[in-house]
Amino acid sequence: MPHAHRSTLTQFLIEERRRFPEASGDFNALILDVAIACKAIARAVAFGELGGAMGNHAEESGGSVNVQGETQKKLDVLSNQVFIQRTEWAGNLAGMASEEMELPYQIPAQYPRGKYLLVFDPLDGSSNIDVNVSVGSIFSILRGPDTGVDVVEADFLQAGTKQVAAGYALYGPTTMLVLSVGNGVYGFTLDPNLGEFMLTHPKLKIPEDTQEFAINASNSRFWEAPVKRYVDECLAGKPGPRAKDFNMRWIASMVAEAHRILMRGGVFMYPRDTKDLAKPGRLRLLYEANPIGMLMEQAGGRASTGEKPVLQVKPGSLHQRIGLVFGSKNEVERIERYHSEPERNAMINPLFAERSLFRD
Ligand code: AHG
Ligand code: MN
Ligand code: MN
Repeated sequence: MPHAHRSTLTQFLIEERRRFPEASGDFNALILDVAIACKAIARAVAFGELGGAMGNHAEESGGSVNVQGETQKKLDVLSNQVFIQRTEWAGNLAGMASEEMELPYQIPAQYPRGKYLLVFDPLDGSSNIDVNVSVGSIFSILRGPDTGVDVVEADFLQAGTKQVAAGYALYGPTTMLVLSVGNGVYGFTLDPNLGEFMLTHPKLKIPEDTQEFAINASNSRFWEAPVKRYVDECLAGKPGPRAKDFNMRWIASMVAEAHRILMRGGVFMYPRDTKDLAKPGRLRLLYEANPIGMLMEQAGGRASTGEKPVLQVKPGSLHQRIGLVFGSKNEVERIERYHSEPERNAMINPLFAERSLFRD
């Protein structure tokens, strides 16, 4: 029994619940259903081309786009269905919302309704699924209206601080589930023999300092001055103002970047930029920024819009986008500081534009 000393996800949840004797068990049941959904998606992803689920959804009829205007992959649609099917029946949910559904999802009439809302990105990084990089599912659990009537968009527009739990599953060389129920961050590795998530990474802590940053540098000409300044200073390395060399990473799969940062520190930026003024950032607040933000903060890191903690933002709409910076505490705080120094930015920016290694 090589795993005799490890807890399963079920054991972990039951032990956590003992701290709340009045808890009904609905919450644990919901997390376990989400975990089953993630296991099913992990299998679909792992079969790749053999599973017949690669490529774009509804390609024969010209393809389909989601509410974001993004082409849906077959696996986006399939993963969305798996989340729904595994969680809608149990009586724990008042409703759901997802990147792949324009409107809130109503629990079908034949099932009881419960007190939680499940908000998810069924497959993050899916634009790269065809090249076999790590992708994942991101989820956030909020309290619902508890009225038994249909949920409406406003029910979901809660600040990230209100999340009851958040997590992601990562479909990489190993499948992992990383979870916070508001008491630290715990990482579980799927044992393919048992089909169980085993606790392998208790109480994850993000180092406060880092020499690794992640940003899509092809957008540099659209960045705001504080972001340009921060990246220029990193690139200047040892002889520059930071007096140390930095390393850069960009996987284009946020969930994989978040995982790297939880494991060894780093900073991730998808800041607000001027590329498309209709889009205040690339990532979505409710099902990308907030759950990842909760995990970062719970692991001693920070998550910010650049200006303020992302978890404090009151959402305006279900699919709202936002600028997002997260990771090692001291770096995120430095980026926030650069945003709050307008005069210095104005002063320094022409200088940096001149010397910028990303000159336009
Ligand atoms: P999704 O696949 O759910 O639409 O999200 C993709 C996101 C995120 O995972 C990643 O960080 C970012 O898009 C990549 O953006 P670029 O293509 O601009 O690099
Ligand atoms: Mn995503
Ligand atoms: Mn997605």
